Amino acid sequence: MSLRLGDTAPDFTAETTEGTINFHEWLGDSWGMLFSHPADYTPVCTTELGRTAKMKDDFAKKNVKVLAVSVDDLESHKGWINDINETQGCTVNFPIIADEDKKVAGLYDMIHPNADNNLTVRSVFIIGPDKKIKLMLTYPASTGRNFNELLRVIDSLQLTANYSVATPADWKDGEDVVIAPAIADEDIPEKFPKGHKKIKPYLRTTPQPNR
Ligand code: BEZ
Repeated sequence: MSLRLGDTAPDFTAETTEGTINFHEWLGDSWGMLFSHPADYTPVCTTELGRTAKMKDDFAKKNVKVLAVSVDDLESHKGWINDINETQGCTVNFPIIADEDKKVAGLYDMIHPNADNNLTVRSVFIIGPDKKIKLMLTYPASTGRNFNELLRVIDSLQLTANYSVATPADWKDGEDVVIAPAIADEDIPEKFPKGHKKIKPYLRTTPQPNR
């Protein structure tokens, strides 16, 4: 059965460019981003992994560990990393799983046969410290992902994990947020002491509580 939000992220042990990793153990108390790439030595994937390397500190500041998956072997990954570093002006500084037997791809349903029988699509799974899946995204091989959007969505996930709020369309860290519908009007002043606006009974906003 395919994975759904709120499910426990399947655990696995895999060979990676940084040694053997047991996924849940490796995550520890961190958030995690597991993301797949169709194949080594392909142009879009090269730019994506370069981008991730350059943004690793941005993910680390949010307590997010990143782990890439590609269905090629370790030797191939190692050669490809040299190309990524050379062409993208970076140092790949996070593990890439050598998923030759497609074990991880299978666990996370990353192969969509009607798109391609052998290669993974561009999946993204954001996993919380409780090991539950908080977000899933699927892009086709032909479209590189927006890594600023991934950081933005992590801001939203981490905020809404701790406060009874949701984030509106195009929200960015620091902007006003929406008060969760479950919060009664009379409870708002105590929960959101920075103030709030009631635009409609169901649309109430407040300054970002953790800023
Ligand atoms: C790429 O990463 O450039 C790519 C991989 C598979 C199919 C199409 C593009």
